[in-house]
Amino acid sequence: MAMKRSSSMGEEGVEDEYDQIAEFYDLFAENHDLTFYLELARRQGSPILDLGAGTGRIAIPIASEGMMVTALERSRAMLGILRARRNELPQAVRRMLRVVHGDMTSFDLGERFSLIIVPDSFVHLMTRDEQLSLLGCVREHLAPHGIFVLDLFPAGAMPGHFQWEDGPIRTPDDLYVRRRGEMLADIDSGTLTLRLEYRVGQTPHLRDVTRTIRVTSRGTILSDDEVDRLTQQAGLKTVAEYGWFDLRPYDDDSGRRILVLCGQP
Ligand SMILES: C[S@@+](CC[C@H](N)C(=O)[O-])C[C@H]1O[C@@H](n2cnc3c(N)ncnc32)[C@H](O)[C@@H]1O
Repeated sequence: MAMKRSSSMGEEGVEDEYDQIAEFYDLFAENHDLTFYLELARRQGSPILDLGAGTGRIAIPIASEGMMVTALERSRAMLGILRARRNELPQAVRRMLRVVHGDMTSFDLGERFSLIIVPDSFVHLMTRDEQLSLLGCVREHLAPHGIFVLDLFPAGAMPGHFQWEDGPIRTPDDLYVRRRGEMLADIDSGTLTLRLEYRVGQTPHLRDVTRTIRVTSRGTILSDDEVDRLTQQAGLKTVAEYGWFDLRPYDDDSGRRILVLCGQP
């Protein structure tokens, strides 16, 4: 979900929201998009680039199927978890997974990819410059037959205000975590605000909360026209469009706008 770091990019030791919540990320992650990305990876083949790869939720299953994946991520805490998960994999799978600390709006990996994905992460980019910069880097890194998948949260499906609660979920250390979320979407200004609160305790009913972590993050809501202008400007052409990860078409009720793009000749 959308989160905008509050501190400046690339600074050593500076915490962003994902540094603060990385330890809980996998506990609450949904895998509603995994089959979609795995299927595309099988079709496109190696090498694959996962931008904003987080803890490797998508990159690890792809590498486990024998495809070469580069996972690029900026948060050191998320990367720490990704590296720890990688170390637990069989050596043959580990060799398939390259982990890179970097910024997805500015990277040069010296390689071109059959498939580039940015699951759940483009929404983090708050300015047109950042968005265009990512799309430009993607264009530079696409192999001639390569495709790029851009998954977006469309403005049409966005409730103005939404609250929820998940958990309690038991951690591997036998603690319990409950998450409360609140999302505010201001379509006029194109901003999303997401507030998350994690409460940790030793029993499932959490009457004994030992730790509370709160983060407030921002994201960008782009209109379909804005996205189409940006991708065109970056030299990318839409070859398919879906409204859900099960490949249903995109319409006013869609939960996502998923674009499959290739480089313009
Ligand atoms: C919602 S998480 C998604 C993680 C992973 N793609 C997944 O689907 O589980 C967004 C991720 O994007 C990363 N991120 C945000 N801005 C980034 C940037 N400019 N460069 C690299 N990673 C970034 C965050 O640190 C976070 O790990």
